[in-house]
Amino acid sequence: MYRFKDFYHNEVQLSFDKHPFSKMPKHVWVICRYKGQWLLTEHGDRGYEFPGGKVEKLETAEEAAEREVMEETGGKIETLRYLGQYKVFGKEKTIIKNIYYAVISELEKKDSYFETKGPVLFNELPGNIFQNRKFSFIMKDEVLKHSLQRVKDCFLSEGR
Ligand code: GTP
Repeated sequence: MYRFKDFYHNEVQLSFDKHPFSKMPKHVWVICRYKGQWLLTEHGDRGYEFPGGKVEKLETAEEAAEREVMEETGGKIETLRYLGQYKVFGKEKTIIKNIYYAVISELEKKDSYFETKGPVLFNELPGNIFQNRKFSFIMKDEVLKHSLQRVKDCFLSEGR
């Protein structure tokens, strides 16, 4: 279990065990890979981030992951793998989020990408994300670092 503070100094707990905090988390975050690149979305207020959001009523977390990736990037998920879960002790509420790794097979062009400006592709993520105002606060804590390491160790050796 990792413990650290996020960009807003809220406490975060992160684990790569199977559902350490909740079997029914209400949020999802999806680290997406499309044709050898990282696929992010540009959120209207927050900036570049991997897609994700809230799990709706009657939806599983996996279904929410698929829906959010499609809504925010137009990406169609070919493979979805559970990676881990984190808990943020926010000022007003505590949220629990599942982290997934997704391989995207197709990028569908859409008229609207909900609250986002749509897909953004990176060959490599920049090294200085914390100081980069174009990036969302959710990309600015150790969740990103540990999750990417996990993706590299577990999945990128498969060649995608
Ligand atoms: P509603 O009012 O219900 O729409 O919620 P909200 O839009 O205010 O935010 P949400 O429920 O998504 O998250 C509540 C708080 O949790 C946010 O204000 C953030 O401080 C924090 N939070 C949400 N997602 C993340 C995340 O991925 N990382 C970190 N560090 N904090 C997050």
